[in-house]
Amino acid sequence: MAGRLNGKVAVVTGAGGLGIGQGCALMFAREGAHVVGCDINKAAADETLAIAKAEGLSYESYIADLTDPAASDALMQYAVDTFGALHILVTAAAFVEFAPIEEFDYEKHWKRTLQGELDLVFLPCKAAWNHMKASGGGSIINFASANAYVSLPSGALAHCATKGGVLAMTRQLASEGAPHHIRANTISPALIVTSHTKERLDHEPGFKEMVMKSIMLDRLGQPEDIGYCATYLASDESSWVTGADIRVDGGATAF
Ligand SMILES: NC(=O)c1ccc[n+]([C@@H]2O[C@H](COP(=O)([O-])OP(=O)(O)OC[C@H]3O[C@@H](n4cnc5c(N)ncnc54)[C@H](O)[C@@H]3O)[C@@H](O)[C@H]2O)c1
Repeated sequence: MAGRLNGKVAVVTGAGGLGIGQGCALMFAREGAHVVGCDINKAAADETLAIAKAEGLSYESYIADLTDPAASDALMQYAVDTFGALHILVTAAAFVEFAPIEEFDYEKHWKRTLQGELDLVFLPCKAAWNHMKASGGGSIINFASANAYVSLPSGALAHCATKGGVLAMTRQLASEGAPHHIRANTISPALIVTSHTKERLDHEPGFKEMVMKSIMLDRLGQPEDIGYCATYLASDESSWVTGADIRVDGGATAF
């Protein structure tokens, strides 16, 4: 079914390279949305732009460091100036630090992960809010994780905290957005093959086997698996869905 997002304007952060943001951005554009994809990494952003242009999609690339609040504001303004409205926001830009608690440093691991996994959700949501209100409402899609529900053997102290935080923050956004027809939902993926995870899957002995043991369905997740869910949440098909979390995890959190 094509055209499920016809005429909608979407901003997708973290849209560069092989990742969840790219999967969402390209699928949205293939479904008829006008998309602004943002990334800090120009080479990665150019990869997504090249795919979109080769397919003739309505796609603009925007380079910014979204840890700067002014950059989020400028990104949303760019989308509205370019396409005339803002209906969909996907916050896939993120960075994270892992370390066992004995080595977990307040600045290097804790504060940096809060910046990479909470600030990078809050700032674009805040910057998009008034534009969505002015556009008659919209759909915000944030990413929690299987690690909002289950722990890892080691290293994920701040990551688990931020992902629980994204769940709670998004419920609050849903509550405050409902009077303005702004819906807000999370997707909680288990491990998805992205440029970030591919390195470990390909080179770290035993890592892929450990991941596969934690998944009921017999394959790794792909960005498209998340893109299908995000497309549903972005479209009017989900117009009665807000404050929800959808676990797209091959059954990992149902064991
Ligand atoms: N990949 C997984 O296995 C997985 C699993 C569960 C949850 N998630 C969550 O899904 C979301 C997307 O994950 P992913 O694996 O696609 O990430 P990724 O690391 O592959 O991609 C993130 C993108 O964000 C960009 N970025 C980083 N800092 C930025 C900044 N300051 N400003 C602008 N762009 C910036 C990066 O350049 C990169 O292209 C994250 O919130 C992640 O925690 C991912």
